[in-house]
Amino acid sequence: MSDITFEIILDHYRNPRNYGELGDATVKVRDSNPLCGDVVEVYLKIGGDGRVEKATFKGRGCAISQAAASMLIESIQNKHVDEIVKLGKQDIFDMLGMEVGPARIKCALLALKALKTAVYGFLGKKMDEEELS
Ligand code: FES
Repeated sequence: MSDITFEIILDHYRNPRNYGELGDATVKVRDSNPLCGDVVEVYLKIGGDGRVEKATFKGRGCAISQAAASMLIESIQNKHVDEIVKLGKQDIFDMLGMEVGPARIKCALLALKALKTAVYGFLGKKMDEEELS
């Protein structure tokens, strides 16, 4: 990991963007990593046209899980739900600026799992867990 990548991850961890509950969320989902108990909660306000009007998150956990949540939630503001369901682990690696090995993959994908679960819930569908593998 380069110094810059490390600094960016740390900055998102220390100063998470769009942090907090969203009172008028259309959908919210809480997910946790069973291995460590770390948590991410995603809040989405979705407009009638299927676009995310506002997305926020709350959570606690390691730098990778919380930085990935901050980056991911920042990146989906105003995105259409159809675009969000296409996001996969490579998109998270691109945001983090590095590939994450098997030991930390659950950390990196925790927010994505919560986000996609929320969007699938909004669409009245169930997420296939294989999408994240
Ligand atoms: Fe818990 Fe990373 S160590 S999510």
